[in-house]
Amino acid sequence: MNMKDIFTKALEEPLKNELSEPQIASLIEHPKHEAHGDLAFPCFQLAKSMKKPPHMIAQELSEVVASQEIEKAVAAGPYVNVFFKRRKISAGILEEILRKGAEYGSNTTGEKGNTVFDFSSPNIAKPFSMGHLRSTIIGQALANIAEKNGFNCVRINHLGDWGTQFGKLMCAYTRWGAEDDVRKCPIPTLMKYYVDFHEKAENDPSLLEEGRAWFKKLELGDGEATKLWKWFRDESLKEFERVYDLLGIRFDHVQGESFYNDKMTPVVAELTEKGLLTKSEGAYVVETGPGKPPCLITKTDGTTLYATRDLAAAVYRKTTFDFAKSVYVVGAEQQLHFDQIKNVLRKMGREWEKDMVHVPFGLILKDGKKMSTRKGKIILLEDVLKDAISQAEENIALKNPALENKAATAREVGVGAVVFHDLKNERMNSVEFSLEQMLTFEGETGPYVQYTNVRARSILTKARAEGTPQEGLEDDASWAVVKELHEFPDVVRRAWQTYEPSVIARYLLSLASAFNKYYGKVKILENDDCLGDRLSVVASVSIVLQEGLRLLGIKAPRQM
Ligand code: ARG
Repeated sequence: MNMKDIFTKALEEPLKNELSEPQIASLIEHPKHEAHGDLAFPCFQLAKSMKKPPHMIAQELSEVVASQEIEKAVAAGPYVNVFFKRRKISAGILEEILRKGAEYGSNTTGEKGNTVFDFSSPNIAKPFSMGHLRSTIIGQALANIAEKNGFNCVRINHLGDWGTQFGKLMCAYTRWGAEDDVRKCPIPTLMKYYVDFHEKAENDPSLLEEGRAWFKKLELGDGEATKLWKWFRDESLKEFERVYDLLGIRFDHVQGESFYNDKMTPVVAELTEKGLLTKSEGAYVVETGPGKPPCLITKTDGTTLYATRDLAAAVYRKTTFDFAKSVYVVGAEQQLHFDQIKNVLRKMGREWEKDMVHVPFGLILKDGKKMSTRKGKIILLEDVLKDAISQAEENIALKNPALENKAATAREVGVGAVVFHDLKNERMNSVEFSLEQMLTFEGETGPYVQYTNVRARSILTKARAEGTPQEGLEDDASWAVVKELHEFPDVVRRAWQTYEPSVIARYLLSLASAFNKYYGKVKILENDDCLGDRLSVVASVSIVLQEGLRLLGIKAPRQM
């Protein structure tokens, strides 16, 4: 019952000498004004081959375009505009949604191929930052969207748990740290040591040397270094778990950088064998092309780098998961890093590097500036989530004091607000951090979408029925909602093709707004012949809103 398919089919015969089916489909558009029709076909491109002006072609086509589902076709200048038989189409779409339920909109594009998602990936001994929040939220949504498009997803947390910085931390801890302080308040304390380290190292560069030595010990498996590292890691993970728990995030594997400690040697050996490694300014590097910075593989003391671990990880993931796609949800500032990794893999003859995709996103800014961990200026994610939840609690206490499960609902609403605030913007946009804006429960927000669904559910509860489409509906308000519902499968595809959860978020806002207009105009519960049809609109809207929210990683409370 896809209107675009129907229109494409109807144009196929008259245009069989001019355009292929996919070409026709790609030209079909939505008219600027609803009153002009449901879909439009522009004729400019045909003028040359048909040797006629576009408006004449449009006129001729409008006379021959016909289908059981098309009410009429009219020429409007160079366009053929079509109007569909609203009753027939709406009955068909509503029936499909009610039959398929949450499966509506799913497709099999991915053919069950494995897709690896590397997302969240915070650094231990540092707070979970707003930047990692973006990776977590976008990554979670993209993995859900990939599944909806027929892929099998492997969700990996590539924890930043290896590297020179842990050497620095061990140096700081052994020199001026206190076990009790770390136990009481792990991450802030460790972070303070790290900040202090950099301050002190400015006057005493020998500290840097000592830090490097500690990391070297760690890479070599030294007992004391390993014990300290493991302790820092465990304490950090405990805090991260709390955030994941609030957000409802799960991973299939927590394979941090340390996981690759024993998997880098073969990669470095291969690079050496293939003659790709060169010595440059005290390090071993792979040149990546004229004018491009080289990719650092090992330092002169033999210790490895961030890139070395990513190379080992890529090879491991290909071997282990035989991925169709491997997606890295990491900030745009790491563009160069991923270019280099792909470049090096290509040189190694791993042609599957073309299936690795870096999905970048913009920064979270505070007063127009990037937030930095180094200087200790950072907003703690857990605090943001907690503030959002208590704000939601206040709202509920005010608006619906009798609500059962207040605490659980407040959590779903508060977290939903934070997640939606991020996902409603295209991911490359930088987001100005504003707690106030995040917590607004009106306008273009998650709670607004959640509330629209609650409203739909409560109508169904009152009616004690989900409705069955009978004759279909044809009034403007219903048609506007049906057309939105009809878009969902396309929206799911587009969100995946562009790696853009905002496509789903914006869609949910426009479906919610169409439904709220419908709710304002139509007496849904009036007991007439169309009651079943109207209730099936309401039930379908609820199915699609819930499924859309689920894709974004947001819960849909039954009441709020
Ligand atoms: N821990 C890194 C950071 O915070 C992000 C890791 C991203 N994933 C990767 N495979 N490099 O910058």
